[in-house]
Amino acid sequence: MYTRVVPEQCIACGLCQLKAPELFEYDEEGVAYVKIDNNHGTTPIPAALMAKFKDAYTSCPTGAILRSAHPFTSTATDAP
Ligand code: F3S
Repeated sequence: MYTRVVPEQCIACGLCQLKAPELFEYDEEGVAYVKIDNNHGTTPIPAALMAKFKDAYTSCPTGAILRSAHPFTSTATDAP
């Protein structure tokens, strides 16, 4: 499973970083990104972190966290 955050949809609520600090971090404006691959969505989520990822994914109030069985390509708005 791969993930990335759509920055335009993130309202900087902070829940993802609270739920999965190993996967999510904030930029200087408080907008979240996936820190394992700098939000490219090309590094598989480690199996040991999947439970935390699912918790973060389902907690995001705006649906800004994308997930896909395949690596994401160039743009942040690519849907799985
Ligand atoms: Fe943003 Fe959603 Fe995380 S609003 S801070 S991506 S939980």
